[in-house]
Amino acid sequence: MDVVLSRTRLVASKAGAVALGLAEGERPTRGAAAELDRRTRGAVSALLKARDFTGQASEIAVLYPRGLGAPRVILVGLGKRAEIDEQRLRLAAAQAARRPEMSGRTDAARSARASQACAEGAVLGHYRHTAYRSEPGPPPLRRIEIAPGTGEAGSGASGRAARQALAEAVARGARWAEAACLARDLASTPGQDLTPELLARRAREIARDTGATCRVLGVPELERLGMGALLAVGRGSVHPPRFIVLERAPRPAGTGPRRTRSGAAAARSRAARAATVVVIGKGITFDTGGISLKPAADMAKMKYDMAGAAAVLGMFAALPRAGAAASLPFRVVGLIPSAENMPGGGALKPGDVVRALDGTTIEVTNTDAEGRLVLADALGFAARFEPDAVVDLATLTGAISVALGHLAAGLFTADERLATELLAASAASGERLWRMPLWDEYAVGLRSDIADLANSGPREGGAILGAIFLKRFARAFRWAHLDIASTGWSPVERPHEPRGPTGFGVRLLLEWLSRRTSASTLAT
Ligand code: BES
Ligand code: MN
Ligand code: ZN
Repeated sequence: MDVVLSRTRLVASKAGAVALGLAEGERPTRGAAAELDRRTRGAVSALLKARDFTGQASEIAVLYPRGLGAPRVILVGLGKRAEIDEQRLRLAAAQAARRPEMSGRTDAARSARASQACAEGAVLGHYRHTAYRSEPGPPPLRRIEIAPGTGEAGSGASGRAARQALAEAVARGARWAEAACLARDLASTPGQDLTPELLARRAREIARDTGATCRVLGVPELERLGMGALLAVGRGSVHPPRFIVLERAPRPAGTGPRRTRSGAAAARSRAARAATVVVIGKGITFDTGGISLKPAADMAKMKYDMAGAAAVLGMFAALPRAGAAASLPFRVVGLIPSAENMPGGGALKPGDVVRALDGTTIEVTNTDAEGRLVLADALGFAARFEPDAVVDLATLTGAISVALGHLAAGLFTADERLATELLAASAASGERLWRMPLWDEYAVGLRSDIADLANSGPREGGAILGAIFLKRFARAFRWAHLDIASTGWSPVERPHEPRGPTGFGVRLLLEWLSRRTSASTLAT
């Protein structure tokens, strides 16, 4: 599907449908709305007058008026004008793009950010997962055009520049939303078709397509490295674990992690190379709970226990191509510890003690708390990159949904700057984060009688305890943990997301990275 900035005015568009957002209680007296109303001899104002449409948020009406290039007009309510923000636009565009009978359409957007939001919403709303259906349903839209608001992007050199900015924003919105849809597809894929090995294959493909490097560590290498926690989680499965390392360098310099060196040499090498951001995604391709087996109800959902990994892969897929003009000024590393958590003759047992990469011993009091085990090794590995910031995304606990419902992911960090950055990216992307506590006093809950710590504790504050466990392995760098078990799967259909995997985190990460691109952030 092509998503582009429109060259024609809404009234002249030959698309299968044109869509227009209207604020609550407002008459079509200005801009594209007025033009449309005039050309259709008052079709829009007649609808409003009859109160068949009032412009409330999420209200929708379809008209088939004469006088336009397009056969259909979709009106979408934007709610009260004072409350219109990017998320409203995103949702309105999503709603319009959901209607299967449409064959193309245009939309109105003013600023670059609004254009991006409309493009994102249209792509997100139009998404359907059809890979496992024998009848795939209506064909997807071929083309979506986003129309600049009237009066914007006028003539002359400044008009051309403004138009160019809007066109770039549309392209970026489409690219980011398509990356989120890639993450949805991955998380929707049944466990039978997405084992750690197959996830690694997808990672290699994505790396190849975007100019990133990809290294995949198998069992012998994991043993050599000492990733005892990841190996332990994978032991019950016939599909062995993998550790996936993606890297997007700002310049085609060295790949792979560098050993930590001390003193002046290390400082010099740090200064000489670009800053590094590490993003980690939990990649449990299926979580049965292992010997601490989960109940049957809802277990099928556990195919999405790699939603963190999917977010990392989606993010990589949408990064500017290596060597492109918009190339990132810092190195981006993606780490995906991947395993299938199964019961079996060789499986990890409650009471077993495993040794993580950094040497910490862990008593496994519950084999269903496997996410934190594989992340412990990933965090240990992250330290080798001497990163400026590490963010992990993980479907870590059911408890985060008890705390927040499904509308926000838990943000856990002791780093105020990282919190500020991520919350700003959250607000701009509409992917909600809610800050949770991370006080060290919680750590008593993870005391073990025989090892350095246990992997599970009391039920109360379960999401916090998961984060506290990770914190122990993240002492060498600035770090934030996002528990996306709540937002990675939507229990209800919404305008911009279907029931099921949401692709949460992809747009949030891209927004965060693109904000970090500014020199002021990197300088501090
Ligand atoms: N993958 C689950 C978390 C989860 C649960 C995600 C429900 C989405 C929906 C994780 O591996 C897990 O099982 N966590 C346990 C932790 C407990 C054993 C300490 C949980 O949440 O019950
Ligand atoms: Mn589990
Ligand atoms: Zn899990």
